[in-house]
Amino acid sequence: MTTTHDSGTYRPPAPGRPDIRQRTLRTDRWWLPPLANALGLATFVVYATIRSLWGSAYYVSEYHYLSPFYSPCVSASCIPEASHLGQWFGEMPWFLPYALVSLPFLLGFRLTCYYYRKSYYRAFWSSPPACAVAEPHTKYTGETRFPLILQNAHRYFFYVAFVISILNTYDMVLAFQSTDPATGRTSFGLGLGTLILLINVIGLWLYTLSCHSCRHVTGGRLKHFSKHPVRYRVWTTISKLNTRHMLFAWLTIGTLILTDLYVMLVASGTISDLRIVN
Ligand code: FES
Repeated sequence: MTTTHDSGTYRPPAPGRPDIRQRTLRTDRWWLPPLANALGLATFVVYATIRSLWGSAYYVSEYHYLSPFYSPCVSASCIPEASHLGQWFGEMPWFLPYALVSLPFLLGFRLTCYYYRKSYYRAFWSSPPACAVAEPHTKYTGETRFPLILQNAHRYFFYVAFVISILNTYDMVLAFQSTDPATGRTSFGLGLGTLILLINVIGLWLYTLSCHSCRHVTGGRLKHFSKHPVRYRVWTTISKLNTRHMLFAWLTIGTLILTDLYVMLVASGTISDLRIVN
């Protein structure tokens, strides 16, 4: 038996599957979520690429605000005060980001994330575009071959992303200070930028801890939860967060852009930081 899809391709139905000739029987606007995902992801990739290579307006010395796209800043190209961990390399060429030690891992972490995989498989590869909508591809090998088999590296990216979240937290803690440019004295300070950095870090932790790999790290490979009550408790909490992973994935895209944008506007002198203390 041969099935004709509206795309014009002939495809025999799999054994035991119904012979449905339309690409989909859905009558709702199923194409809207993949379209919105494509626009959202493309916006983030373009913004993050431009800003990571921008090379300026990423640090506010007076209030110790460091953009997350430049953390940690460990090359000789960085402003010395922004190099919280010291400077490990010489000058960066223009085509490499200052945060070269972290960005490839963060990119790998997001690119291999279970949620983002679903999102960009649907949005950019139509594989499939939505539930109960046939995909245009005639062959399906899943993630069993190169290059998609590399998606299995997600668990390793998780460990690095965990460490980078600690670094982002450290950057945020430093933003609770302000330095008087006249005297050079540093004291407690709090501004709108501090709060934005704080919200971003909370979002990053929620995203990182709700990761499926984190859930496996905490509760996987156990035969008896009753013998590991602490791990069971942690796993239960992570599992609750895990149900919101998609939300945190999009939330952090928004907070990363907002945080960098705010730091850029203050650092470039376009706006002044709204100070609450000092
Ligand atoms: Fe999304 Fe791990 S970060 S599944």
